[in-house]
Amino acid sequence: MNFKIISLIVAISFWALFPVATHAQKTNYDESKVPSYTLPDPLVFNNGKQVKNERQWQKKRRKEIIEIFAQEMYGHVPAKTKGIHFNVVSEKTVYNGLAIRKVVRIFLDSSDKHWFDVLIHLPAAPNGPVPVFVGLNFQGNDATLDDRASRRWPYEQIVKAGYGVATAWRDSVEPDGKETKIYQAENVCRDGGIRAWYNQGGDWGAISAWSWGLSRIMDYLETDPVVDVSKVTVIGHSRLGKAALWAGANDIRFAMVISNNSGCCGAAISRRVFGESFRTIIKNYPHWFTKEFYKYTNKEAEFPADQHWLAALAAPRPLYITSATKDRWADPKGEWLTAWHVSPVYALFGFKGVGNEMPKPNTPDQQGRVGYHLRSGKHDIISYDWGQFIRFADRHYYKK
Ligand code: GCU
Repeated sequence: MNFKIISLIVAISFWALFPVATHAQKTNYDESKVPSYTLPDPLVFNNGKQVKNERQWQKKRRKEIIEIFAQEMYGHVPAKTKGIHFNVVSEKTVYNGLAIRKVVRIFLDSSDKHWFDVLIHLPAAPNGPVPVFVGLNFQGNDATLDDRASRRWPYEQIVKAGYGVATAWRDSVEPDGKETKIYQAENVCRDGGIRAWYNQGGDWGAISAWSWGLSRIMDYLETDPVVDVSKVTVIGHSRLGKAALWAGANDIRFAMVISNNSGCCGAAISRRVFGESFRTIIKNYPHWFTKEFYKYTNKEAEFPADQHWLAALAAPRPLYITSATKDRWADPKGEWLTAWHVSPVYALFGFKGVGNEMPKPNTPDQQGRVGYHLRSGKHDIISYDWGQFIRFADRHYYKK
């Protein structure tokens, strides 16, 4: 027998002997193959006692849950740097006088060496301080103004609705692994990202670094007289949606939290192992997480929390989760289930969450303090989504 045939026989016998092992490595898109699972209860303290009221949740349980995600998934988010200060780099009127566009440089300490830029659009003639959406972008602030990413940032639509919107480039806060080089010219964090520069000996992943950056944008917004600081919504798409959920959890200055198509380790229930799994996310994006997380490869059921715990950290603030019909990788049903499973936590505060059935495509569920929509189409964030965010924000900020 030649070597090729022997190898073939060895391979076939291996598959015959370990069919389960090989099967487990495949991405599951079959609802009937979702493993049966029991979700851990967010309303039980680490010591096994029941959380009985909103005070216990706010004072103690929230902290326990944050610590679990910090310790086991994303890494700890450090406090703000000392000496942080801001400078308006440019300011002009755009969209036929409708909006002010400005670039604000956030200097991360008392020197002028470490900074990132925030691109801000605000209504030009507001009746009073305005609510603002804050989120990071994938391709650079300039890209949000041209063909590369403008569909994701419909500034005119947002400003016309009376809202401001502030964004910074993800990689100017913390580079996203190998994808970073492409836009090197705009990479202002010359020290290789906030983690390299402001390490503090911690083991924190890029998701924590991005949420740290979102909080620094909030630091600036608190100083801008045009901004209504009680109405700042943190928002993010996909990996940046994971960061938005985590930022909203850590920083309660954000008055509303929006996750758009954030999927695995964002809004999707991990124990469903549908679409992206712990195995694939750890393999492809190890730099997003603390190293502690790697031990959960293929072990979703052993993680001490599930993602509804993370989403519940938004409570009692309004929370909005979205999915897209073709975005199976992010598990739309798992994202909706998270919206649904946070209900008991919102109920502690006397708030209703989403309805008991996953809504049909393009029929948003916005009746409660938690909202959800399933957009038809692919993994993306587009004008339709923003229209729903504005509607949801109007409802909660202005009782419209
Ligand atoms: C990949 C990744 C997801 C992530 C997405 C994105 O698909 O697997 O976890 O959300 O990229 O950020 O667009």
